Amino acid sequence: MDTTTLATVTTPRAVERLVQGQATSDGAGVKLVRVLTNNLQRRLDPFLMLDAFGTDNPGDYIGGFPDHPHRGFETVTYMLQGRMRHRDSAGNEGLLVPGSVQWMTAGRGVIHSEMPEQQDGAMEGFQLWLNLPAKDKMREPWYRDIASSEIPEWHGEGVTARVIAGSTHGVAGAVQREGTEPLYLDLHLAPEARFEQPLPASHNAFVYVYRGDFLLVGDTAVRRQRMAILTNAPGSDGIVLQAGPQATRAILVAGRPLNEPIAQYGPFVMNTQQEIFQAVEDFRAGRLA
Ligand code: CO
Repeated sequence: MDTTTLATVTTPRAVERLVQGQATSDGAGVKLVRVLTNNLQRRLDPFLMLDAFGTDNPGDYIGGFPDHPHRGFETVTYMLQGRMRHRDSAGNEGLLVPGSVQWMTAGRGVIHSEMPEQQDGAMEGFQLWLNLPAKDKMREPWYRDIASSEIPEWHGEGVTARVIAGSTHGVAGAVQREGTEPLYLDLHLAPEARFEQPLPASHNAFVYVYRGDFLLVGDTAVRRQRMAILTNAPGSDGIVLQAGPQATRAILVAGRPLNEPIAQYGPFVMNTQQEIFQAVEDFRAGRLA
């Protein structure tokens, strides 16, 4: 047994704030809930956005996300249900299917589309935006499709943790990043099952519940379709979660803050307004493709 399996959290974090998210639409009319909104970017640095989408109604998703640019950060798309095809200006193409992840580093720029590859049925998943440090914002774009079977899992008592990024209980995830050290876990908990995750107090962290009735963080109930922002109390050594009386699923996301200026204009996230003007100009001049 790996000794990290024995790591226990003695001073867990509490819930600082519960967030409901905002119903909105993006792309060509895709309905979604923006859980991590612009006003939380500083608080949840290095994360810039979290969208949750989930619907049985094709009218809510059929328009998809036609060609649009990105610069300066990474997009991480995790599909729970449905199929989406991705194409980008760097020549990459991939199909997202249930349980798979697409990790795209926009770097200095890509233009891509994300379109549903189905006419009906459910479409559900998440898109998380992870910021890049200033020194990497203009790096070459990078892209990886991660099949469901390639996502490592840790199994504990009543717990399956799908490790998309970072590591838990000695299991390294599909993607590792220096600098921001992102942790991205999809947790499947049996009723009342408990999960612990050691984490430095300085890393920002949140949990979003997407199945079941609620999840307990300390004595705070985090209901389905709510995000809990977790405190960074000095001396805290991690996170302890416990499912309510129903089987519960949640994503747990954490990372080390960059503490750099954030300048955003739509799909461009840089450090200064000047760099944003440059991004818009480069896009208009066709230099992102
Ligand atoms: Co996009």
